[in-house]
Amino acid sequence: MKTILVTGATAGFGAAFARRFVRDGHRVIATGRRVERLQALAEELGDSILPLQLDMMDRKAVDRFVDSLPADWRRIDVLVNNAGLALGLSPAWESDVADWDQMIATNITGLVHLTRAVLPQMVERNDGLILNLGSIAGDYPYPGGHIYGGTKAFVLQFSLNLRADLVGKNVRVTNIEPGLVTGSEFSVVRFGGDAARAAALYADKAPLTAEDIAETAAWLVSLPPHVNINRIEMMPTCQASSALAVKGK
Ligand SMILES: NC(=O)c1ccc[n+]([C@@H]2O[C@H](COP(=O)([O-])OP(=O)(O)OC[C@H]3O[C@@H](n4cnc5c(N)ncnc54)[C@H](OP(=O)(O)O)[C@@H]3O)[C@@H](O)[C@H]2O)c1
Repeated sequence: MKTILVTGATAGFGAAFARRFVRDGHRVIATGRRVERLQALAEELGDSILPLQLDMMDRKAVDRFVDSLPADWRRIDVLVNNAGLALGLSPAWESDVADWDQMIATNITGLVHLTRAVLPQMVERNDGLILNLGSIAGDYPYPGGHIYGGTKAFVLQFSLNLRADLVGKNVRVTNIEPGLVTGSEFSVVRFGGDAARAAALYADKAPLTAEDIAETAAWLVSLPPHVNINRIEMMPTCQASSALAVKGK
């Protein structure tokens, strides 16, 4: 049984991770801002869930989070840096810089601070796994993706560079880079609560599901300590990358 810290467990991938990890016999520290959802998850999954409110933008709370855990939950075998968001899809010059700050604070600053808090115990034990939720947005640009794509490119390079520090140690880091995925609130959040606009993105398509991402995470958790998967790019069959589209005169 591993103890797995999942950020952003109140919805989407994070909730799917928690369900899958508990099904596989692990226990999960489930965090996020919407504490009532964490409580519901704990009621559903029982003692294998420790529900704790954590706002990834609250740097002090993130820095002291590990030390504030109950003693028997303080050993973290797996950290899943999942909390994150995209806000808006306007061109850079029209978008709200407050949205930029929120994406950077959550997707980058919160993620690196929590990682820094967890890493020493993993290095000391010579054992641990960090799963970072990147995105294909970190690999391929698209209109309106500017800051979100930039944050996910950071997460990719942070993941790869961490492994450079960790070479020779059984502390593993994987960047998971999904494409189009349904079963989460990602697009509703991006479009400021406009559920109809979000639903239109997935209509008549068969995107990946949050459970597909959880299946991949479960496989990563099951691998022996000498195996590091550096990155995984995942797309549904209804999606592919195409380089340098040109349109207009
Ligand atoms: N869905 C996709 O198509 C897709 C594709 C590639 C990558 N991703 C990435 O996968 C991750 C999960 O996304 P998702 O699709 O599952 O989206 P989601 O359903 O909107 O879930 C996002 C989670 O992040 C949490 N979160 C956001 N801001 C937070 C903050 N300041 N502090 C703590 N938690 C915060 C939310 O919890 P609270 O609001 O309760 O705090 C929620 O649990 C994200 O990093 C996202 O960028 C998603």
